[in-house]
Amino acid sequence: MVTRRKFVAGGLAALSAAKAFANTPSLDLGAIARRKGLIYGTAVNGKGFAKDLRFRELLAAQANMLVCEGATKRQALEPKPGIYDYSEATAVLDFANQHKMKMRGHTLVWHLANPKWLLDALQDKPSEALITDYITEVAGHFRGKFQSWDVINEVLSPDDWNRDGMRSSSPWFKAFGERYIDIAFHAAKAADPNTLLFYNELNLEADARWSEDKRTSALKLIERLKSRGVPIEGLGIQSHLKLYRLRYDDRIFSRFLDDVGAMGLKVMLTEFDIADAEGPRDPAKRDADVASLTKRYLDVAFSKPFVLGCLTWGISDKYSWLSKYENYKWADGSLSRGLPFDENFKPKPMWQAMASAYEGAKGR
Ligand code: XIL
Repeated sequence: MVTRRKFVAGGLAALSAAKAFANTPSLDLGAIARRKGLIYGTAVNGKGFAKDLRFRELLAAQANMLVCEGATKRQALEPKPGIYDYSEATAVLDFANQHKMKMRGHTLVWHLANPKWLLDALQDKPSEALITDYITEVAGHFRGKFQSWDVINEVLSPDDWNRDGMRSSSPWFKAFGERYIDIAFHAAKAADPNTLLFYNELNLEADARWSEDKRTSALKLIERLKSRGVPIEGLGIQSHLKLYRLRYDDRIFSRFLDDVGAMGLKVMLTEFDIADAEGPRDPAKRDADVASLTKRYLDVAFSKPFVLGCLTWGISDKYSWLSKYENYKWADGSLSRGLPFDENFKPKPMWQAMASAYEGAKGR
């Protein structure tokens, strides 16, 4: 049998890592994390996974959990009503199993990445079955195979100007009001009783008034869900940091985490990356800034016993959504440098910062 370590031994990724960090005790973030009882995982870019052997080697070498970047969203899984396509998700799951990595599911209900037929149906003839049939099928299909599911994603939106912060422009909210969340969690619990059920949210970590309001809205929403007996078990904090655009404050983040922990929820940093657009032109300077923010952010998170770990939204700059997304990309086409490995799969100072945060974490 080929072990994970053997599988990557001699791999280019491991070699370049060895060169850059000759004094690092372990080159494997997943292993460092596991020693502390923590998760280090990454989202899997479908194109890289399908075509790039070195990318797959890097995943196998570094992560102890995977999540599909797109393949477990509804437009991928149910392109036509009742017709399910599990091909990419199954390939990633098999790969994860082969390399003894855990998997998480992302995401059952979201206002984005929905097939057109579904949006039409939600408008013309909204029926709860549009939520429950899907969740019963999909969470049932993966029953026992995922460590956690993001049941709902991005359900708050300050831009929608509601007092309770709800994203009222979501097709789900328009069809059912807030009740869609309860329906989704109950269906997920019935379909896969032993997976952890998460509410995943963005922009919860900035030092800004609107982000503080969003944190308050999230806590209040969690409180309402719990009071209605909704089986919510965790909060996913996406953690798409914007280094040169939004301020970050350790104390604010720490306090928010404590508030969530006090409600009995587990926390996972689910989509960590650092947008570097608008930063200094010199990549070395940006890398240093990214690394220092990484260390501060993860140190705070890992000091809390109810934080399970961190997933980065991609692992190499070669396949980062930050380089494509309108809001985050460099106007001149430069690649964003917000992930632990560069486009040649060489570890950057961000990798070192992550390794040292995991190494410094209290075991759990
Ligand atoms: C992004 C993917 O990375 C992109 O490839 C895709 O085009 C759009 O979705 N928050 C989420 C993720 O919850 O699902 C998003 O992923 C990034 C923001």
